Amino acid sequence: MTDRSYEDYKTLIDNHLMDFIPNIDNKSISLYEAMKYSLTAGGKRLRPALLLAACDFAGGDIKEALPYACALEYIHTYSLIHDDLPAMDNDDLRRGLPTNHKVYGEAIAILAGDGLLTCAFEAITKDMMLYYDSPEKIKKRVNAAYEIAKGAGCKGMVAGQLSDIEAENAIASNEMLEYIHLNKTGALFKAAVKAGLYLGNPTDDMISNFEKYSDNLGLAYQIADDILDVIGNPDELGKAIGSDVKKNKNTYTSINGLDAAYARLEELTENAVKAIEDYYDNAEFFKKLVMDLAKRNK
Ligand code: IPE
Ligand code: IPE
Ligand code: MG
Ligand code: MG
Ligand code: MG
Repeated sequence: MTDRSYEDYKTLIDNHLMDFIPNIDNKSISLYEAMKYSLTAGGKRLRPALLLAACDFAGGDIKEALPYACALEYIHTYSLIHDDLPAMDNDDLRRGLPTNHKVYGEAIAILAGDGLLTCAFEAITKDMMLYYDSPEKIKKRVNAAYEIAKGAGCKGMVAGQLSDIEAENAIASNEMLEYIHLNKTGALFKAAVKAGLYLGNPTDDMISNFEKYSDNLGLAYQIADDILDVIGNPDELGKAIGSDVKKNKNTYTSINGLDAAYARLEELTENAVKAIEDYYDNAEFFKKLVMDLAKRNK
């Protein structure tokens, strides 16, 4: 474990984010531009930072983990482009700029999302080809790729997005809401942490303790997002507030109110911190990240 900070990881990702996007044929230049627009619009780079930190933590080489970290950010960015479409949350502002479909139109925005998702797996599999002669290195990479695919897919983020949409205009139970949050948001956090660990040399205990950490982090993160949709500042957030009420979404605040949301956030933070207590000497990054959530304003 090194003592790299969140900013160190973010800078590394920002500097390399376009490295794994292939040179697109000139005839498809608008696809490239639309993908690049959303990728470079900003963003906290939380998921790839978590992946790199988990890799560091488990004794891996973060430079080797970069294609996986960037792939995860491509997937997350695609999920945001599609999430903002009129057929989904119908939002006009993202990362401080007009949403992708507002600039390029819906058809290109859908394709830019498709392109980013596909590029993620192109980047990962291209990296794997470098290690054909090392079964041990290939195994780490296959494990990481599987976690990313699983988290992004139809038992992960896509499933959560489906349930989020289907639950509009109805009142969900807290159990259903937790299912939505764990999938639409938690699944990519879990993928980040587990993929990063697999790229190092994790123990079985480490994997299961960090699974608990990331489930709690994911739930806490989405509750904080729901709170900010009510009380946030659009200039700081880079997206509109009030979007959830407008779409009759089920959120932690709509079901339980703001005070309960803050209380649950605290409880989830404690759970997350406790899940990694065995590693406190080395896990400051992870502890701080979740403890800072309640204070976040963007
Ligand atoms: C927004 O994710 C979608 C949620 C899961 C709440 P982020 O809050 O990580 O957004 P960016 O990547 O910083 O723009
Ligand atoms: C989105 O949740 C989670 C995704 C998978 C993109 P939200 O719909 O609440 O995210 P924001 O508030 O638009 O960023
Ligand atoms: Mg949504
Ligand atoms: Mg949304
Ligand atoms: Mg939201």
